Amino acid sequence: MTTNVNTNTIVEAKNLKAYYITRAYGIERVVKAVDDISIQVKEGEIYGIAGESGCGKSSLLKVLLGAHQAPLTVVDGSVKYRFDGNEINALSKQEMEHKDVRWRQVSYIPQGSMHVLNPVRRIRDTFHDFIQAHRPMKRHESNELARNYLRDLGLPDKVLGAYPHQLSGGMRQRVTIALATILWPKLIFADEPTTALDVVVQRGVIQLLKEIQQKERSTLVLITHDIGVHANLADRIAVLYAGKLVEEGDTRTILKTPMHPYTQFLIKSLPRLDDRGARVGIPGRPPALENPPPGCRFHPRCPLAMDKCRTIDPPLITVQPGHRVACHVVTDAMLPEMSHAASA
Ligand SMILES: Nc1ncnc2c1ncn2[C@@H]1O[C@H](COP(=O)(O)OP(=O)(O)O)[C@@H](O)[C@H]1O
Ligand code: SF4
Ligand SMILES: [Mg+2]
Repeated sequence: MTTNVNTNTIVEAKNLKAYYITRAYGIERVVKAVDDISIQVKEGEIYGIAGESGCGKSSLLKVLLGAHQAPLTVVDGSVKYRFDGNEINALSKQEMEHKDVRWRQVSYIPQGSMHVLNPVRRIRDTFHDFIQAHRPMKRHESNELARNYLRDLGLPDKVLGAYPHQLSGGMRQRVTIALATILWPKLIFADEPTTALDVVVQRGVIQLLKEIQQKERSTLVLITHDIGVHANLADRIAVLYAGKLVEEGDTRTILKTPMHPYTQFLIKSLPRLDDRGARVGIPGRPPALENPPPGCRFHPRCPLAMDKCRTIDPPLITVQPGHRVACHVVTDAMLPEMSHAASA
């Protein structure tokens, strides 16, 4: 599908395919972790990427960042950034390095990031090393910058004198987020930033991310399997299943009128204030992506599966402006003549 680039698109992936390709004893193994995904992220928004564990979220993020390494290989498609009217090819290491894109324009809060702080250095020194690498300045200047930034975000600046193990998990995560954003990147990628934190601490981390994004109107691409976090934070939600984009829309639409059976399961599994009944879990689990099911990859778990679901991959169609869904049931209802042609 061709997409028109909006002037305010900051990241665009087109027909992106990224596979883990390994070879052992002469046998090639191909895991199709990102399989033909096209998305556009708009400047200033929080774009949420949802889906259970193993659906390809982290792999997609690494490619969007141009930070993927073997065995993860881009086999097709493109990733472009657009900053102040300039287009940058995120898949070109030279372009990314030449233009000093990473960390100054684009930052990354990796999965498990609260463990990335150097255990034998005080937080102050880690801040200095990081700032120094991208914007050379004297130690007292970097200290001041770090102190002011932490204060701005409502974090105690005394953490600068601490070692990582002296901080709680929640504080370590907040400090890591502050570190990744201290140079005010235009674009922030965060991978499961609230996972492994208890609910109260999660709320603080969500609040912090929101505050950072709003202060500079930066763009946040947020990955979490927790649809409840998306409901609180994201402007739009993309739902991945088994390496494919199965639904995308603004958060309200996705929460109120999800159309893909998988999205409906995700929403039903959300705890509700007014509902004291048991939450509905999703039966089964995502397939291994080395040999995914033919047709719609969700068909072995889908209560609505029809014959053609087992053989024909459903196209991603726009059901209304800004709402895309890949499901035969939806296509049949929206475009009866198209589904007729497909099954003929
Ligand atoms: N290094 C690797 N080699 C082969 N397969 C991998 C590797 N890393 C991840 N995968 C597979 O790629 C798929 C997507 O993984 P990932 O992107 O980590 O998903 P998520 O972030 O949604 O949990 C999974 O099926 C996973 O098993
Ligand atoms: S295409 Fe078929 S199997 Fe896939 S989600 Fe829709 S109804 Fe279910
Ligand atoms: Mg992941």
